[in-house]
Amino acid sequence: MPVKSGRRMHLATLLQPNGHHTAGWRHPDAQLGGDHDFRVYRHLAETAERGKFDVLFLADAVGLRDRETSEQLSRSPITANLEPLALLSALSVVTSRIGLAATASTTYNEPYHIARKFASLDHLSNGRAGWNVVTSFSDGEARNFNRDSHPDHTTRYGRAREFVSVVRGLWDSWDDDAFVRDKASGRYFDPGKLHVLNHRGAHFAVRGPLNIARAPQGHPVIFQAGASDDGLGLAAETADAVYTAAQTLEEAQAYYARLKGKIAAAGRDPQTVKILPGIQPFVGHTEEEAKAKHRALLDLIHPDAGLGHLSTLIGVDMSAYPLDGPVPELPVTESHRSRQKLLLDLARRENLTVRQLYGHVCNGAGHHTAVGTPGQIADRLQHWFENGAADGFNILPPYLPGGLEDFVDLVVPELQRRGLFRTEYEGATLRDHLGLARPGLVREAVRIA
Ligand SMILES: Cc1cc2nc3c(=O)[nH]c(=O)nc-3n(C[C@H](O)[C@H](O)[C@H](O)COP(=O)(O)O)c2cc1C
Repeated sequence: MPVKSGRRMHLATLLQPNGHHTAGWRHPDAQLGGDHDFRVYRHLAETAERGKFDVLFLADAVGLRDRETSEQLSRSPITANLEPLALLSALSVVTSRIGLAATASTTYNEPYHIARKFASLDHLSNGRAGWNVVTSFSDGEARNFNRDSHPDHTTRYGRAREFVSVVRGLWDSWDDDAFVRDKASGRYFDPGKLHVLNHRGAHFAVRGPLNIARAPQGHPVIFQAGASDDGLGLAAETADAVYTAAQTLEEAQAYYARLKGKIAAAGRDPQTVKILPGIQPFVGHTEEEAKAKHRALLDLIHPDAGLGHLSTLIGVDMSAYPLDGPVPELPVTESHRSRQKLLLDLARRENLTVRQLYGHVCNGAGHHTAVGTPGQIADRLQHWFENGAADGFNILPPYLPGGLEDFVDLVVPELQRRGLFRTEYEGATLRDHLGLARPGLVREAVRIA
């Protein structure tokens, strides 16, 4: 397919330790134990870096999924894994170029902690840190943080807005050159280059300053993945890059146009925010081989695992409904609102039963699945990229390590051959990879009294 322009796509990969497909861990070649074994992650990070990916990304929740019974949960590998910032700190030592992004909740953290941790990761990795801002989604998480239930959507997003602004303010606590460390004069830092935030708002009172020097990137990169009106609003105001789940090209185009419009309305340049739809690839040397890989995983989904996963994403316990009956009308969820709508729209459009809908969910959790040869998958990515649906992609390997290795060894070279993706890293930081400017520091210096 001839390439339309010299624009290059960005590639992220979401590394779920057992693969993105619900049955990925049961694939004959899946490497088990990756959820707690650093060596497995190291291999994945090195593989993604070999593929010149912009960033690897770790999703997270602060509790077990709570819409599932123990029986359902016991069929799923996504129950226990390493804490992402600890893991990324270790990965920062064994990688040198790839960006390292982790999810952290604005509902169950304090801004000072988050600002300090991501600034630390940015220093440890020489400017490769990214924070995926989420508001979390379950009562199961609330119950680990002194609450009986998860705060409602509007409250969560109000807190998230203020949270991000406090974190950004704290990241500006010091001028870049504040630490003079002058042995001769005995001056460690220049007091004129210290900034105290003195924030007081509806949710937080934070004086600052942060007890870590300004990060190499100025601000670590902010990722976001909300898709409700509130989620899009937060992304439009604060995100540098956005993950999204779209089943079809049309859905991805609609999301892209809407978010870019909101970014412009928020007074920002839409080109500076990168939109990355998730793609779950099944790559084969032939189309038949790719289809066989895909079919094999669908056959390995246990019904309990399927129902459990669907209940979590749709925000309602689905085990009450007949498996082979139509997907019923459901109450609007307080958790993943956009994902519930996406799944209900899909069920109506294709007239799906509950069982068929969980087949879709386990197969990429609402993301687009691309099955084919390297050329066919590159065609799909190019088509979305050149037709107003994406600035790049979040690659979701269905099983590991093979799903990532296939993409890096077979699809990346095809994208490079077409001039659609870099053949070498050109910059040092995650901001460089994403083509984002380093934010300056705008506030006046304030001395501590
Ligand atoms: C690729 C991707 C990754 C996500 N990772 C996480 C995550 O790690 N933790 C989390 O709580 N939510 C995660 N989410 C959910 C979103 O952050 C968001 O909460 C969800 O889309 C619902 O937002 P909305 O209510 O604004 O639609 C992810 C979403 C996408 C598309």
